Amino acid sequence: MDSIKFRKGCYWWDLQHLLCIVMLCLSRADVRLCQDACDLCKCTLDNFRQWHVDCSNRSLNSSIVPTVYPNLTVSLNFSNNPIGVLLNSSFSKLHTLQILDVSYAYLHEVEHQAFDGLYKLEFLDISHNQLEISNKSISVRHVRDLMSLKVLKMNYNAKSIARTDICYPDEALGRVTSLQTLFLDGLINSTFGLGFRNLENLTTLILSGEKKVGHCRLDTISSYMFKNVPHIQSLIIRECHVEHIAEEAFSPLSNLSLLDLSGNTKLTIDGAAISFQGLKKTSIRVLKLNNIYPDFSIGVRIKKEHIQMLRNTSITEMEFSGNKVEIVDSQTFGVMPINLTKLNVSRNRFLMGDYLLHASLLKNLTSCDASYQFFSQLNSMSFRKRDISSFQDTTQLTMIKWINLTIQVPENLKVANFSRSKLAFPVLNFRVGNNTVEYLDASYSMLYNWTGPVVGFDSLLYLDLSNNHCSELSFQFFDYLPRLLTLIVSNNLLGIAISRDEDGRIFQNLNSLQHLDLSNNRISSMNENIFRGLVSIQTLNISNNLLDIFLVNIDHMKNLRILDLSQNMLQVVRYPVRIALESIASKTTEKVYVNISYNQLRCMCSTLKFMIWVRDTNTNVVGMKSCMLANGTKTSFLNRNDMIRYIDNLDKECMSKLGLILGATIGISLAVIIVVVGIVYRYRWKLRYLYYMTMNKSKGYHPIGDPDTDNDFVYDAFISFADEDREFVRDVMLKKLEHERGMRLCVSFRDFIPGREIASNIIEAIHNSRKTVMLLTENFLLSKWCVYEFQMAFQESIHSGRDAFIVILYEDIPTEQIYRVMDMKVVFQSNSYIEYPRVSRSDGNEQALDMFWDRCTKSIKESGYSTTRL
Ligand SMILES: *[C@@H]1O[C@H](CO)[C@@H](O)[C@H](O)[C@H]1NC(C)=O
Ligand SMILES: *[C@@H]1O[C@H](CO)[C@@H](O)[C@H](O)[C@H]1NC(C)=O
Ligand SMILES: *[C@@H]1O[C@H](CO)[C@@H](O)[C@H](O)[C@H]1NC(C)=O
Ligand SMILES: *[C@@H]1O[C@H](CO)[C@@H](O)[C@H](O)[C@H]1NC(C)=O
Ligand SMILES: *[C@@H]1O[C@H](CO)[C@@H](O)[C@H](O)[C@H]1NC(C)=O
Ligand SMILES: *[C@@H]1O[C@H](CO)[C@@H](O)[C@H](O)[C@H]1NC(C)=O
Ligand SMILES: *[C@@H]1O[C@H](CO)[C@@H](O)[C@H](O)[C@H]1NC(C)=O
Ligand SMILES: *[C@@H]1O[C@H](CO)[C@@H](O)[C@H](O)[C@H]1NC(C)=O
Ligand SMILES: *[C@@H]1O[C@H](CO)[C@@H](O)[C@H](O)[C@H]1NC(C)=O
Ligand SMILES: *[C@@H]1O[C@H](CO)[C@@H](O)[C@H](O)[C@H]1NC(C)=O
Ligand SMILES: *[C@@H]1O[C@H](CO)[C@@H](O)[C@H](O)[C@H]1NC(C)=O
Repeated sequence: MDSIKFRKGCYWWDLQHLLCIVMLCLSRADVRLCQDACDLCKCTLDNFRQWHVDCSNRSLNSSIVPTVYPNLTVSLNFSNNPIGVLLNSSFSKLHTLQILDVSYAYLHEVEHQAFDGLYKLEFLDISHNQLEISNKSISVRHVRDLMSLKVLKMNYNAKSIARTDICYPDEALGRVTSLQTLFLDGLINSTFGLGFRNLENLTTLILSGEKKVGHCRLDTISSYMFKNVPHIQSLIIRECHVEHIAEEAFSPLSNLSLLDLSGNTKLTIDGAAISFQGLKKTSIRVLKLNNIYPDFSIGVRIKKEHIQMLRNTSITEMEFSGNKVEIVDSQTFGVMPINLTKLNVSRNRFLMGDYLLHASLLKNLTSCDASYQFFSQLNSMSFRKRDISSFQDTTQLTMIKWINLTIQVPENLKVANFSRSKLAFPVLNFRVGNNTVEYLDASYSMLYNWTGPVVGFDSLLYLDLSNNHCSELSFQFFDYLPRLLTLIVSNNLLGIAISRDEDGRIFQNLNSLQHLDLSNNRISSMNENIFRGLVSIQTLNISNNLLDIFLVNIDHMKNLRILDLSQNMLQVVRYPVRIALESIASKTTEKVYVNISYNQLRCMCSTLKFMIWVRDTNTNVVGMKSCMLANGTKTSFLNRNDMIRYIDNLDKECMSKLGLILGATIGISLAVIIVVVGIVYRYRWKLRYLYYMTMNKSKGYHPIGDPDTDNDFVYDAFISFADEDREFVRDVMLKKLEHERGMRLCVSFRDFIPGREIASNIIEAIHNSRKTVMLLTENFLLSKWCVYEFQMAFQESIHSGRDAFIVILYEDIPTEQIYRVMDMKVVFQSNSYIEYPRVSRSDGNEQALDMFWDRCTKSIKESGYSTTRL
């Protein structure tokens, strides 16, 4: 601190010498210099152009106290500095100061004129120091100028608490008539002296300690303690070791409206109840008796006698939290303050019992906090049981069977909180009586089985059943909540129940519901119609589940504004959902948010449509922060623009890829087709042969003969010829071979079965004939059917292994022409043909012809099985 001292004479002023020329700071020229002082302290200017100077925790001591803007500073915080002694006139130039905080300043002395000049001061905090607060040490001189002071905090001053011979500085404080709120340490056996009578505006008195520090120690509150402070309205005596309170202790406080006796752990309800007599004379509205039992105490029972004094008080609000209460006498509800509207009985150990059925007597109760039951530090069953069995008048403590039960609820109750209680019973079928409950919190209560139905909560708007480990949800459980707006069932195990609900039964009657929280329920699948009934829904939270596909009908959710799908395992948002969201968003001017963060989103060509939707949609897609690429690596987006750029690139990439894939596919298909066509073409005859063979076989045209024996052919020969050569066949061939040489011939015009396919007839004929005789002419080569017959016969040869055909070369045909027919070359090169004698036509050489026909016959009759296969 040495380095800063007395620079330019104006920054700092010595408290002792008051040398600083404050005026300088106020002249325009030096405003800058003054502002430099703010380097050390934090100065803020408020809307009224007044300065607030915060010099707390700057290691300043009494000789160095910076000051700035003397006539403009309204608040000065000096706390947490090692000041030690507060010197005279330290703040005398700060005429406008309203708030001064010198707490935690190691003060052991305040000089008599230290607060001089603080005419406007309204708030003074000298708490947490080492001052002695007594008539001796706080003098009238100290407070001479504090004519505006409203709030004075002088508690937590170590020196006073240790002494028993001192009493509150009533002489000095009695002069501060403007005082409204006073914080003091609780001094044992000390009373508020006559001086306090002047403090007409003193309405709030806080004697409050902290367990660890122990700055409040009252032991006993006597009947005359508050005699001189009759204007008190709020009296807070928290953690002051109060053990006894005189019967009439509070009766002088006719204006008393709030009394807080919490944290006096030796008081107990018995001790507090004594003072209730005096409370009847006050205008008490709020009574707080939290934690008035020691940490390790046995269960507490509230009796009628404890409470009945309060019956006709004006109490509207009571707190009785953290008191190990296990049971309340049934009659107690009948003597509770008649105007009681708000009751806090949280952190007790209430047991299930018939007495609960009498709670409906609290007709004016609107709010009840019964959370944190069975949550005391010492949660021991043995204590509880022993205590209960010791009750003399045995209250019928039967465990309530929550089946077919009608439970009466205080008729004006609006808010009920049972959260964080170990209720741990199955919620079966029960009914609640007429009620107006709007808000019900039963979270963290181990309600593991929601079978229901629970009937009667007709006014309920808000229901919290989260964190109940519930795995059993019946379809009718939510059926009787017609006005429900908010339903929170997060952190349960409803996944199975929900995936089982195929028709949307569970939520079907929640037609008013606006907010549904289903997060963290291990939901792995949902049926399309699950949310059928949710026509008013605005916020739908399905985050933190196990969904890999979200394909749920949301078309009817016209008011949907937030759909939270985060922390699932979704790869994309599916098309129908996208369409539905678009449609919802297009019908409102409000924003529609979809949260898809922390999923397993995919950025690849197959999900391109989804990506493009994310980019172009008119809904607000939140949380597309990263996604998985096709090769399994994850990419992260810095911001939305980054993402858009990525999608644009992907779009282009996939387009070119699409072309490539398309091209490749077409190319490959073409190649395959060509090869197949080639193969088919190459083997067309074989294929046709096989086809017809199979066809015929399947139709029952079995070959008559066993191909292994030679005899059983229907015909000796099937004559294949062109239509133009029909005459020769009819007139010559049949005559020569059939009539003269006894061959059985098959000719198309005579032996084909009419009405059957030609191709089939041909195959049949070839197959049933020992030989196929081909009358090879130019017409033959031009005829499609002839070529067909040749091919079939050729295939038959190959297939059956017999030498199945004879070619008769009827006329001269150029070899090229013959060879043009497939496989004909093979036949000719193997010389398996017979030439028709050329002479025959000119001179009718009968002998040559006969020889020819004999040869033919011989060929036909020859064994069909040749050693050399064609
Ligand atoms: C105040 O602090 C300064 C600098 O740390 C030191 O030199 C001075 O002795 C202190 N004065 C007192 C009274 O402690
Ligand atoms: C005071 O300041 C020191 C260091 O700046 C800090 O560690 C400490 O927590 C502060 N104490 C209070 C009470 O603000
Ligand atoms: C500061 O206020 C006092 C008293 O109100 C007054 O006498 C003095 O002139 C003011 N100083 C400035 C610079 O305004
Ligand atoms: C008490 O407060 C009232 C109203 O706030 C005020 O008019 C009256 O002057 C105050 N009394 C004293 C002694 O300051
Ligand atoms: C407080 O006063 C009571 C009687 O008024 C006396 O018995 C007790 O000893 C006193 N306690 C102390 C610590 O002075
Ligand atoms: C209860 O409240 C009513 C209406 O607010 C009031 O008239 C009545 O005096 C109160 N009863 C008591 C005992 O304060
Ligand atoms: C409820 O309050 C009214 C007045 O506010 C009172 O008349 C009535 O007795 C109270 N009912 C009960 C059961 O305390
Ligand atoms: C509950 O009531 C239903 C009809 O209201 C009845 O069928 C059923 O037996 C009752 N269950 C019990 C345990 O009383
Ligand atoms: C419940 O209210 C209805 C009509 O509001 C009434 O007919 C019925 O008697 C009431 N039941 C009870 C138990 O108060
Ligand atoms: C829930 O309660 C119903 C009705 O008693 C019972 O059938 C079912 O087995 C219970 N389920 C579980 C998980 O306890
Ligand atoms: C995956 O692909 C991205 C770009 O498409 C590339 O940057 C990354 O290195 C690839 N990762 C692997 C493991 O191949």
